[in-house]
Amino acid sequence: METREFSHDVCVIGGGGHVGLPFALICADSGLRTVIYDVDRRKVEQIRSGAMPFFEEGAEEMLRRALGSGRLAVEDRPEPIRDCRFLVMIIGTPVDEHLNPSFAAIDRALRAAREHLRDGQVLILRSTVFPGTSQRIQRFLDEAGLRIQVACCPERVAQGYSLREFRELPQLLSAFDPQTLAAVRELFGRFTRDFVEMSPMEAELCKLMTNAWRYVQFATVNQFYMLATANGVDFDRILHGCRYNYPRMAGMPGPGLAAGPCLVKDTMQLAAFSHNHFMLGHSAMLVNEGLPNHLIELARRQGEIAGATAGVLGMAFKAGSDDPRDSLSYKLRKLLALEAAQVLCTDPYVPDPTLVPLERVLAESDILFVATPHQAYRDLPPLAGKRVVDVWNCLQKPAAP
Ligand SMILES: NC(=O)c1ccc[n+]([C@@H]2O[C@H](COP(=O)([O-])OP(=O)(O)OC[C@H]3O[C@@H](n4cnc5c(N)ncnc54)[C@H](O)[C@@H]3O)[C@@H](O)[C@H]2O)c1
Repeated sequence: METREFSHDVCVIGGGGHVGLPFALICADSGLRTVIYDVDRRKVEQIRSGAMPFFEEGAEEMLRRALGSGRLAVEDRPEPIRDCRFLVMIIGTPVDEHLNPSFAAIDRALRAAREHLRDGQVLILRSTVFPGTSQRIQRFLDEAGLRIQVACCPERVAQGYSLREFRELPQLLSAFDPQTLAAVRELFGRFTRDFVEMSPMEAELCKLMTNAWRYVQFATVNQFYMLATANGVDFDRILHGCRYNYPRMAGMPGPGLAAGPCLVKDTMQLAAFSHNHFMLGHSAMLVNEGLPNHLIELARRQGEIAGATAGVLGMAFKAGSDDPRDSLSYKLRKLLALEAAQVLCTDPYVPDPTLVPLERVLAESDILFVATPHQAYRDLPPLAGKRVVDVWNCLQKPAAP
């Protein structure tokens, strides 16, 4: 690797985040001199002290090893950017209140980095971005008179399991010229040999379509669930019938609250890119965002909600996670609060002071909703005497009389 001009190999901009931190750890662990740069001081302090700011399988041990090796620096100021050959930027284009992509965070990051950028660096976009963003950034750098090449290598790991998946999944690599593509191939070649090479626009779309595909699939099965349960039919029995020894349906997901920091946002980026002609994407949003209302309707069929205490089990956006970002559990809570006398919410992992212990939710609730299928709920004994709405079908059922 050509690193003579630079004292460090990689600077991960946004390196304290869910994608950035595992990536930085993998870099440091594989021998690269790595800098984490993140504007969040609290996170930077925590990482420096050897503690992970969120759950990530196997990461705490790797963090301590990386810090001990002297190959990982953690900074809240942009100056170290100038020392690094590869700048890996993990700042995306979230959608705004009109569901259009916002470039504000990327623009802010580029402005902060501007005076520390140096000719010969390679700027790799690892976040999920609106199609054309790589080109937009390349133009910004060209117009600033900087000889810095942009590459786009979007991350595809499942949050919480990044370290394992990073080495198992093929890496999408893209750049505007063969030399830059060769440079990123060399960097990622330290971790894997399995690459898919494409143009930046193809890579941007590939990542967005991957997430939109999953979101549409979840919406399809959620709509089937609503359709069956609205008519009093047990959807779990249908699901079993669809999948059982029938390979064409083996990949059919089960129903459940589908949200989180990526799926809706990325589906809406594609919708904006298509000038709002991505009908399936918008339909998927209507279905998935409508599921909490349907779950409340199912509870209403079992008895009055007014005057009752409702309990919500699980506030993270997915099982085993401590991340509540854009979780539909919070929408469920909000809707229930309009009707129920009291709403009690719990989660074993999410650090939210408004949550209460599981035991209290179980003891005081008349109606229980399983919003996130954490293992702890699968392990509960059957909840006799409660009204239960379990879209995930994860609770143990009381024995039939
Ligand atoms: N979370 C996932 O599972 C996942 C998976 C694949 C791709 N992505 C994509 O990766 C991107 C980042 O997602 P995330 O979940 O890691 O977000 P995150 O919020 O966990 O991390 C972003 C980090 O960037 C920092 N930051 C923001 N502005 C900065 C700046 N100007 N300079 C330096 N640091 C800055 C923040 O403090 C934060 O620590 C998004 O585009 C997302 O869609 C996420």
